[in-house]
Amino acid sequence: MERFDVVIVGAGAAGMMCAIEAGKRGRRVLVLDHAKAAGEKIRISGGGRCNFTNLEGGRIERYLSANPRFALSALRRYPPSAFVALVERHGIAFHEKTLGQLFCDGSSREIVDMLLAEMKAAGVVLRLGASVDRVEKLADGFELALEGRGGGGERIACASLVLATGGKSIPKMGATGFAYDVARQFGLALTETRPALVPLTFDVSLLEQTKALSGVAVDVVVKCGRQTFAEAMLFTHRGLSGPAILQISSYWREGEAIEVDMAPGVDVFEGLKAAKTSHGKQAVATVLSRWLPQRLAHHLAEAEGAGGRIADQPDKALRRVADAVNRWRVKPVGSEGYRTAEVTLGGISTEALDGRSLEAKAVPGLYVVGEAVDVTGWLGGYNFQWAWASGWSAGQVC
Ligand code: FDA
Repeated sequence: MERFDVVIVGAGAAGMMCAIEAGKRGRRVLVLDHAKAAGEKIRISGGGRCNFTNLEGGRIERYLSANPRFALSALRRYPPSAFVALVERHGIAFHEKTLGQLFCDGSSREIVDMLLAEMKAAGVVLRLGASVDRVEKLADGFELALEGRGGGGERIACASLVLATGGKSIPKMGATGFAYDVARQFGLALTETRPALVPLTFDVSLLEQTKALSGVAVDVVVKCGRQTFAEAMLFTHRGLSGPAILQISSYWREGEAIEVDMAPGVDVFEGLKAAKTSHGKQAVATVLSRWLPQRLAHHLAEAEGAGGRIADQPDKALRRVADAVNRWRVKPVGSEGYRTAEVTLGGISTEALDGRSLEAKAVPGLYVVGEAVDVTGWLGGYNFQWAWASGWSAGQVC
């Protein structure tokens, strides 16, 4: 039976970073992945340009977890600037797009190639097309039984085992619940998992009202409970999407309403009343289109029964229209689910892990990194930052 110091299951962002660091320490490292290529989610991320970190990626309030302070140790030890320095060392050009989000100028492929080059330099062995069938605890480590193309029936032993198989998002890309299953096997607690950073869907009657708006994008402030996001929102043929909605989806729960201000910073009621005096002959929709895309302006004026000239509208009608713009309360029926969710909220409980090393407190030698852990970032490079930071931290000790 072949023996490694460290076996990492999952050649994604967190697994590769962990492998590089452990390899640099002289550990004999094997990375296993059942996919045909490493870093597939990195490759497709950020629309092919990989939003690889965020300048604000060290801010703990940008991460969701049952224990929001858990991520602090790893994020402090491996901050966004550390990953930026690595990217710069490899001569990869990048830019800040918006809100601290750093993207490659070229292709996300450059980030995958950088990680593969670093793994090679650190002597890491990468085996693709390999799934782990079973994991057993030995007195001095773990034994893995492999299945599939990369190692049918083979057994591998290791001192440290790192679970880096991510969450359940996008099963079509090979996401599995492997890390959760192994966690359960070893008695590690799990928190409830749900799709996050995901479009929200409407029921049939709401869709009937909004389907004409499909494709309309508008800058909004969206609110759910105490959480707000100011970003773009997109009407779709199934509900709502766009960065503002993906962000709020991580905070939204079934049965709750979200409140959307589609003209942030504009008191639409005051604006409509002023226009009633100064531009009485204008249609309400025309006045609304000062602040909203035309299609949305027309739709809202009609939907609120204020289709005619603004001078003919009682203030009550203008108030209704203004509320529909500044305070649209809407109850999504659900989300698009793991099929399209960018991440999985929840996962292996932080209670079960040491925040500095990501080692399971009750199972020495077992580590969990990346999205499999109950740490979920906002949209905008935060999830990769958590993957790099947690992978790096485990890589110092595993
Ligand atoms: P990741 O999912 O990357 O890797 C897990 C690996 O484990 C995969 O290679 C998988 O094949 C392998 N695996 C799974 N089960 C296995 C098994 N049973 N046996 C063997 N191998 C197994 N984040 C961000 O910060 N900026 C961005 O721009 C984007 N963009 C983005 C776009 C899209 C479309 C998605 C779906 C997601 C993003 N994200 C993102 C989120 C980001 O991709 C995600 O949080 C990280 O990839 C998580 O890294 P991990 O290494 O934890 O898991």
